[in-house]
Amino acid sequence: MPEKIPDLIREKDLVLIYLDEKRNFLTQIQKGLKLSSDYGSIEIKDIIDKPFGYTGKTHLGHNFYCLKPSISDMMMKLRRTTTIVYPKDLGYLLLATSIQSGSRVVEVGTGSGAMTMVLSRLVAPDGKVFSYDRRPEFIENARMNLEKSKVLDGVEFRERDVSKDGFVDDNIDAVFVDVPEPWDIVVHASTVLKGGHHFVSWSPNVEQVRRTVEILSHQSFIRIKVNEILERELLVRERGTRPSERGITHTAYLVQAQKVLPD
Ligand SMILES: C[S@@+](CC[C@H](N)C(=O)[O-])C[C@H]1O[C@@H](n2cnc3c(N)ncnc32)[C@H](O)[C@@H]1O
Repeated sequence: MPEKIPDLIREKDLVLIYLDEKRNFLTQIQKGLKLSSDYGSIEIKDIIDKPFGYTGKTHLGHNFYCLKPSISDMMMKLRRTTTIVYPKDLGYLLLATSIQSGSRVVEVGTGSGAMTMVLSRLVAPDGKVFSYDRRPEFIENARMNLEKSKVLDGVEFRERDVSKDGFVDDNIDAVFVDVPEPWDIVVHASTVLKGGHHFVSWSPNVEQVRRTVEILSHQSFIRIKVNEILERELLVRERGTRPSERGITHTAYLVQAQKVLPD
């Protein structure tokens, strides 16, 4: 059996410091930092060089655990200036495209950068995400979120209104659209997307989906599909196992389509 090499917590690492489902903190490790909750405080310097998985105690004696954050943790806990794409929807739509390491992807809009962060990890190390938004302040916040997650290298931000001005990048493997008017992006997506490749979009309302599908069908897109992903958590407890009564009931309808070339 190969020797297990411990994964040690270093400065600047992202760690999920977990006490329970209500008290958990996605933390970038810095010596001077102190976390506080009603369960007591934690000096971050005390966990540097400890292995991931380490169990410590707050000054009030509650256990805390140093966990590896999941990609969903990173999406849900980044600084939000907009609504974000939810992991259940993004997970499904990523598998509906063919993107992989080395792909060239465009997204509109950048928003808080939740989707950008995941796309950048997927296309690394040689691929690129061209992330478009018309609001510079959103791009700045997303840049900060991506820097914290150490995935900024694979991303180029473009401040641009894509509905009016289109894309500046070409030869694209997938187009991801999360804006209120996705139908306005379709014609531009059709111009830059490689033949056979995928367009995907998110919309909270059926009216938006209808309009997007109609335009897609007039712009050399086929295999147009619309889905909704329903997620329900199951609580497994001594006193009984059943679905949680809380949860997000609606996020978005998901549209996917593939571009064909003229014959
Ligand atoms: C819902 S947010 C995107 C959230 C993002 N998917 C995430 O997961 O963080 C929508 C963004 O689209 C941008 N936007 C809307 N219409 C646009 C357009 N025509 N061109 C460029 N950006 C646009 C908005 O400024 C906003 O930041």
